[in-house]
Amino acid sequence: MATTLSAIGLLVASNPVPESQTNQAWDVLLDVQAARGGPLHERLTAALREAIRTRRIAAGDLLPPSRSLAADLGCSRWAVTEAFSQLIAEGYLEARTGSGTRVRWSGDDGPASERAPVPAPHVDPPQFDLAPGLPDLRAFPRRAWANAVQSQVGAVAFTELGHPLPEGHPRLRELLTAYLRRSRQAVTTAQNVTLCSSVTDAVRRLCRALAAEGITAIGCEEPGWTRLRTVIRSAGLETVPIRTDEHGLRVTDLADHPGLRAVLVTPAHQFPRGTVLAPERRAALLRWARETDGVVLEDDYDAEFRYDRRPIGTLQGMDPARVVLLKSLSKTLSPALGIGWIVAPQRWTAHLRAYPGTAPPVLDQLAFAGMLQAGDYDRHLRRLRQRYHRRRDALVAEIHRALPDLRVSGIAAGIHLVLRLPDQVDSADVMTAAVSLRLADLRGYHATDDPAANGLVLGYGNLADPAVGDAVRALRDALRSAGLR
Ligand SMILES: Cc1ncc(COP(=O)(O)O)c(C=O)c1O
Repeated sequence: MATTLSAIGLLVASNPVPESQTNQAWDVLLDVQAARGGPLHERLTAALREAIRTRRIAAGDLLPPSRSLAADLGCSRWAVTEAFSQLIAEGYLEARTGSGTRVRWSGDDGPASERAPVPAPHVDPPQFDLAPGLPDLRAFPRRAWANAVQSQVGAVAFTELGHPLPEGHPRLRELLTAYLRRSRQAVTTAQNVTLCSSVTDAVRRLCRALAAEGITAIGCEEPGWTRLRTVIRSAGLETVPIRTDEHGLRVTDLADHPGLRAVLVTPAHQFPRGTVLAPERRAALLRWARETDGVVLEDDYDAEFRYDRRPIGTLQGMDPARVVLLKSLSKTLSPALGIGWIVAPQRWTAHLRAYPGTAPPVLDQLAFAGMLQAGDYDRHLRRLRQRYHRRRDALVAEIHRALPDLRVSGIAAGIHLVLRLPDQVDSADVMTAAVSLRLADLRGYHATDDPAANGLVLGYGNLADPAVGDAVRALRDALRSAGLR
């Protein structure tokens, strides 16, 4: 019956329509596929409701008599009258003696926020995902996660099923401490680890803690991740752009801002330029923090993925009293999990934990703890590192082949790279032309105007391996339509 229903259009006479014109009535295809399952009258109800809500049938339209609709649809008249009465009861239809059944609901009553949305015109999503930001979502370790959830749910004491502790679950904090010492050369105890939902959340919390200490501005790498600048500003603090070059943050520029006592950096892999903070600058930055009684916020977002050597250890491990380490699972597992952490000196921790209701769900924390304990997280990272390494090599090789005159940089680590553009090609024009690609304009990460910012940021975390060649050819086409010779 579903086939018959989906194949037949519902003939609806528009009102007011003179008798003579009813033959010009229009067809509205009932989307019964979307209402699959369940008895026929329920599917018909759902399909009609959907047609009304999406305004394929408008208020005032006259529906065919139940007998002829049933004949058209090859179903019993009972099914049609059931569907009509249900929709009359819900207020979508109205029946008046002698004038048939009409659509009553216009969607215009009630506050705008409650009205049914007019469907947006269909736009094909970009075919190739080169946006920086996402890890390989296909590689999410479903089995390891499912096993971890299952075993934690089976083992958890009922006493732990209340509200999450503001600092996070003690087992996860212990396991994270061991992981951070081992893998990121962090120097910490579980006492200094606070669970949060993301780096974004971490920065939001830190802004309040800093403001409580009288800090009113944070130095931000220029260029840098726009979202964190927005978070800082919406917390009422000022953002001070500090330029970066091929060795990372220009630490000496901090002296141009007397009174500045906090700076946000991505030392292991500058976002978005992809450079590494040079060793002498790491030392100089920590010196600056000590001399100003300041604090360095270290965003360690994708440091695990380093391809030419072992990942660079954290700054936090070099001065745990002056550096706050921020990290989430967004780049290693999935942003869908909403798990992150902050490693901070004791003086900040009370502030960081003063947010009831914002800790990640207890069972998710325990599942991640289970993965850490079983070695599954380390295994996942090892596999991902190899996978990204191969993909990066393939992408860089394709770019060299298709676009031999363009310069690629920032490839030693992470899951994105920067493609510099020649003067005759404007990155904004490429963005407009690149309809089949999701990518980022380097300029978008700049807080100030910089003519040298003409470039693209290409992420390869979530790019499917077989699509690398086609993605680069699509990029070359976009560059050509933007003026590349
Ligand atoms: C520079 C940078 N830091 C941190 C993150 C992770 O942010 P969150 O944990 O808020 O998802 C990202 C993710 O795209 C990023 O690009």
